[in-house]
Amino acid sequence: VEVVDETGSTNADLTQACRAATWDEDDVHVRVAYRQTAGRGRQGRPWQGQAGLTFSVAMPLALPPARLSGLSLAVGLAVAEALEQCDAALGARIGLKWPNDLQIDGRKLAGILIESVPAGPQRLWAVIGIGLNLVRDVRMEAALGRALAGVAEAMTPFDAQRDPTRIPGAVLERLACMRTRFVADGFAPLAQAWSARDAYRDEPVRLLHDGVVLAEGVARGVDAEGHLLLETAAGLERIASGEVSLRGAGA
Ligand code: ATP
Ligand code: BTN
Repeated sequence: VEVVDETGSTNADLTQACRAATWDEDDVHVRVAYRQTAGRGRQGRPWQGQAGLTFSVAMPLALPPARLSGLSLAVGLAVAEALEQCDAALGARIGLKWPNDLQIDGRKLAGILIESVPAGPQRLWAVIGIGLNLVRDVRMEAALGRALAGVAEAMTPFDAQRDPTRIPGAVLERLACMRTRFVADGFAPLAQAWSARDAYRDEPVRLLHDGVVLAEGVARGVDAEGHLLLETAAGLERIASGEVSLRGAGA
């Protein structure tokens, strides 16, 4: 585990390091940054980490890229379970937004960015970046035009200064358990636990890309590969995570 005061992006650092590294199943790297100057979000968006925890895990997986389906959901679930382990009241309020956001009452608590680096047949590194908002930052909310959540609003007592390793420690522990199960059986055994936290189950939703609505329907949960099941006028569609964002129909 490396902790740095400042870097551009922990995901950029670890993807670069993985390209040069020798793949070894036991070689898990973690990079935590107090400050990122070029934090990356999904779909090329910037990530503002000043009110939160920003770290990445380079996880060697003995899998071909085709077997990564559902990994982002499995990671979101692991982070939610880790927060629940830290504080039951916080855990009880966390919902998952497909494919991998954590929310409290529809407000974004954490985002996850997974980048993969191939390392040969049946081998890759998954670089898992986690941005977790610790406090709800009103100025950032205004700048982003989106409602945000923070760990501190639901966890009592919350003191990041006194106990800075508790949350990342719990996340790393849950990620390690998730990794073993995911490599053996993929997302399927985790689908039920994910569904229990599904924030949009049976809700009318829209799928967007670059602000353009690609599909509308009712969210009907996820399948064993982590695809979103969307009930549309044309029938039930299975949507792969890729470059789409889910929003509630009214949002
Ligand atoms: P996604 O595609 O990840 O599901 P989205 O387009 O549905 O996201 P939100 O999940 O509400 O939108 O995210 C709010 C926007 O603000 C996103 O573009 C996100 O990347 C960006 N953002 C940047 N920093 C933060 C942060 N610290 N907390 C929450 N959102 C942030
Ligand atoms: C999202 O768009 O929701 C994903 C946000 C992921 C942010 C984290 S912060 C640590 C890691 N380093 C980055 O540059 N991005 C991820």
